[in-house]
Amino acid sequence: TRTAAVIPAAGRGVRLGPGAPKALRALGGTPMLIHAVRAMAASRGVSLVVVVAPPDGAAEVRSLLDAHALPERTDFAVVPGGETRQESVRLGLAALPPEYGIVLVHDAARPLVPVDTVDAVIEAVREGAPAVVPAVPLADTVKQVEPAEVPGAPEPVVATPERARLRAVQTPQGFDRETLVRAHETVTEDVTDDASMVERMGPAVVVVPGHEEAFKVTRPLDLVLAEAVLARRRL
Ligand code: CTP
Ligand code: MG
Repeated sequence: TRTAAVIPAAGRGVRLGPGAPKALRALGGTPMLIHAVRAMAASRGVSLVVVVAPPDGAAEVRSLLDAHALPERTDFAVVPGGETRQESVRLGLAALPPEYGIVLVHDAARPLVPVDTVDAVIEAVREGAPAVVPAVPLADTVKQVEPAEVPGAPEPVVATPERARLRAVQTPQGFDRETLVRAHETVTEDVTDDASMVERMGPAVVVVPGHEEAFKVTRPLDLVLAEAVLARRRL
């Protein structure tokens, strides 16, 4: 079966601050989205990349893809996204031709994921896991709190999960296509990643090693780090 990558890129990037939609902002002079597309197309296992563009930006994304050198063995498609990440992923899934039995979902906001991580996720799905997420151990201890009603007020700590058993999850997350489509049809609550929808339905989700360079560009400091990682690669 063939593998497609869906790249949700329709978010505004509110936490990054004012400016163009996050996926279209430059990193080392090239839009973040183009880095993410190249990271997926770099895997020989990926034969189609579907970009889910900002709702009013599909034409702009199409011309960006045309303007940048991309591997010829890979097909590209662009669809307009939705209000939430979940909705954007659903719209991307709906655009997949039938021959794609494995789907990766990869945030445009993780432009620097190494190809080895992409390949490891695909491999684990091919070996039979219905849902696979790359993840890394945490550096910080995590506390569960009772959120304060007033922002900034002290928040009571409820629990401290054992750090050694926690993982910070990244993308691309890989799925048996039918499993992911079913999850999107079944789960209606808001979630922050695709695998959690599959978890709610029952099928086992497994974790494979992620990579520190697969971090998500979320806040301004992340852009500084991303620029530094790129500069180091270009040495
Ligand atoms: N995303 C999307 N459609 C949405 C919201 C988010 O396709 N309606 C995508 C983003 O473009 C991003 C990925 O989901 O590639 C991860 O989301 P996040 O990092 O939260 O990006 P934004 O939602 O753009 O950022 P923010 O939450 O700060 O506004
Ligand atoms: Mg968001």
